[in-house]
Amino acid sequence: MKKEVVEVLKKAIQILGFEVGEEEIYKNLEVPPNLELGDCAFPCFFLAERFKESPNRIAIQIREKIGNAPLTDFEGVETQGPYINFFINRKSFAKKVVWEIINQNKNYGKSNLGKNKKVVIEFSSPNIAKPFGIGHLRSTIIGNSISNILKFRGFKVIRINYLGDWGAQFGKIIFGYKKFGSEKKIMKTPIKHLLDLYVKSSKKIYEKSTREEFRKLEKGDKKNLLIWKLFRNLSIEEFKKSYKELGIKFDFWEGESDYILKGKKVLENLKKKNLLKKSEGAYIVDLNKHNLGIALLEKSDETTLYATRDLAAAIARYKKHKFSKMIYEVGQEQVLYFKQLFKILELLGYDFSKNCVHTPHGHYLDTSGKKLATRKGKIFFVEDILKETVALAKKELLKRNPHLPEEQLERKSKKIAIAAIFYGDLKNNRTNSMIFDLEKFLSFEGNTGPYLLYSYARANSILQKAPPSKKFEVYDINLKESKLVKELSQFEEVVSRAAETLNPSVIANYAHQIAQTFNEFYHDSKVIGSKQEAFRLTLVQSFKQVLKNSLKLLEIETLEEM
Ligand code: ARG
Repeated sequence: MKKEVVEVLKKAIQILGFEVGEEEIYKNLEVPPNLELGDCAFPCFFLAERFKESPNRIAIQIREKIGNAPLTDFEGVETQGPYINFFINRKSFAKKVVWEIINQNKNYGKSNLGKNKKVVIEFSSPNIAKPFGIGHLRSTIIGNSISNILKFRGFKVIRINYLGDWGAQFGKIIFGYKKFGSEKKIMKTPIKHLLDLYVKSSKKIYEKSTREEFRKLEKGDKKNLLIWKLFRNLSIEEFKKSYKELGIKFDFWEGESDYILKGKKVLENLKKKNLLKKSEGAYIVDLNKHNLGIALLEKSDETTLYATRDLAAAIARYKKHKFSKMIYEVGQEQVLYFKQLFKILELLGYDFSKNCVHTPHGHYLDTSGKKLATRKGKIFFVEDILKETVALAKKELLKRNPHLPEEQLERKSKKIAIAAIFYGDLKNNRTNSMIFDLEKFLSFEGNTGPYLLYSYARANSILQKAPPSKKFEVYDINLKESKLVKELSQFEEVVSRAAETLNPSVIANYAHQIAQTFNEFYHDSKVIGSKQEAFRLTLVQSFKQVLKNSLKLLEIETLEEM
């Protein structure tokens, strides 16, 4: 819809002798607060300022130059003070939009704006010494959705899981294993046992010994390496189970351990460039000049650090993928850290550093507003959370349908659980912290994942009763139908906004919006048996498709029946 407006405006402005780019026109377009003011409005203030004219006069002049240009989507163009308002031809617009959706199906909203350019996105990245806890769930859900969105925009997306499989914490679990470990437990419930060892050996009295174990590991001690490998493999196996349940895949699994030697090379390079300073026996990069404090790159015991490995990883990834952008989907507590990282890359002369971005996210909070992951003595494992959610979903399903066959109950409760958790997260702007409340997430009413699945199934049940055909005319259109059409037509724009801001909540909120509008429409307008049946059925079908496409970007699968 906006495309046509932009074209018409651009021409008219050109005739007036001004030069304004399409993008700028597009950015300035507004949706008027009520339908009486049209469906799309162009305010002339910015032109007025630039060309030293009154905005009202510019509006009138542009309107004149538009003349009687033939418009497909619009039936009227009027000025109102400094605004030029465009009135949509609702019937022909509805026909066009619905037609597009039912023909493009799963490709509706897709574009190739990314031109297959490579985007590396690193997300999830749990630590092996610690469990795949709820702290990493947010990165997993958001990072995955961002990947989906960028792919839908035509980028070549490379998904990397960067395991925290190296670092001083391994000194702790190796020491812990030697002192308190049990082979039986490690084979049976590896992650829980490792966590136990981690907690036990985190006591101050063991500090020296645990550090020594890590130093030995970095120096290549055979026994320690063997234990480390065992832990790594067992953990990965466990993680993979959870990812499978969540429906999440990666193109590459990397680990910090891949970048130890390369990290040492980076240190040498930093030394050569005079960027490394010795301070109390450790090596640092002083970034105070850039207001970024001090980055520690090597400890006094000569073991490498998180940052050193990250530098090496970034450099190696660029060599390998030649990405046009690299995204790190990591919690907000690492904001400064990533700024330092990108700055050091820049100081080292790596041009790609300007294409690195950190997309931080807020925390999960419990219902009393405290950070969830740090509640004393309580770790929330992804595995357990999933089980709990599935159980709750089952209860809810049985309430509605006590005779649901076992097979259906299993399949549906799993999908509902994923929808509940993923949507519960993604509906929030990622930078905000949010309350992780499974009961709320699972409610079938309100702004929740299950509500959306329910709306989808409702649309499907209508279509089951009367399959739509491609032969339809729009004889008449009411306000609710018009509203739904308009919203459905905005899908591509919504995806574009989500991609630009790397923020899936834009899509989540949109999905909720169209579901609400659909339910309003359905409440007011009889579909089957009405004069408008053919059109209304295709409208229902279009809604169903657009909701499906939206949810897919959030990694939520739909159910034809609830
Ligand atoms: N494993 C890290 C953690 O749990 C997150 C890794 C983030 N990515 C990175 N390249 N530093 O805190």
